[in-house]
Amino acid sequence: MLKIFKYIYVFLFILILGCGDSSSDGRPFTTHPGYEYMPDMYRSPSYETYSENSLFKNNSTARKPVVGTVARGHMPFEYENTLDDYIRAGEMLKNPLLKTEKNIEEGEALYGMFCAHCHGKNGDGKGSVSHPVYGAIPAYNDKVQIRRTGSTMSELNDGNIYHAITYGLNAMGPHASQISPEERWKIIMFVNNLQKEDK
Ligand code: HEC
Repeated sequence: MLKIFKYIYVFLFILILGCGDSSSDGRPFTTHPGYEYMPDMYRSPSYETYSENSLFKNNSTARKPVVGTVARGHMPFEYENTLDDYIRAGEMLKNPLLKTEKNIEEGEALYGMFCAHCHGKNGDGKGSVSHPVYGAIPAYNDKVQIRRTGSTMSELNDGNIYHAITYGLNAMGPHASQISPEERWKIIMFVNNLQKEDK
């Protein structure tokens, strides 16, 4: 019996401690201020994320990044998905990475994950995905068929390939969301080798 009273006392104690005046934050909890242990822990003096904020002119909620700022890890790509920008990318963009064994190896591994099922492991266009729509996958070392650049696959510049990976082309979907800019340049290093391969 005594034990039960002990529990009741503890319960009441917690109740008294826990019941604060919450009317300040709008919740109709209780109007009788009780003892609050470290009120700042419950009622943060800072603004809640996305809550209205009187410090800003229009009292708006979410802040936009300052104009001209670039998110960490994001490399802006100022070429549109147009033929003009495809050609321009081919003329302007150079691979920023050093042609090291390690980069080429990583490019090969990424190529195996993202490209080989369509383009084939050795770049001959005969990957495991066989479908009428994907039937016309060009070989990277092709020296006959004229592409958008006016040249052949084997002569595509790095910037053209970068543009193609980023935006895709017809049956080839865009890969910008799956492959980071750095990874794209590594893949291109490996594709460069496939472009040179003899038929
Ligand atoms: C779903 C299958 C598929 C995947 C995955 C794919 N491609 Fe393609 N790719 C194609 C097809 C089909 C074409 C030919 C498009 C056309 O000419 O209409 C093509 C064309 C290209 C071209 C030539 C573009 C041009 O400008 O003429 C390049 C370069 C290329 N792919 C690179 C890659 C790389 C690198 C990857 C991996 C990151 C990749 N592709 C992944 C199907 C694919």
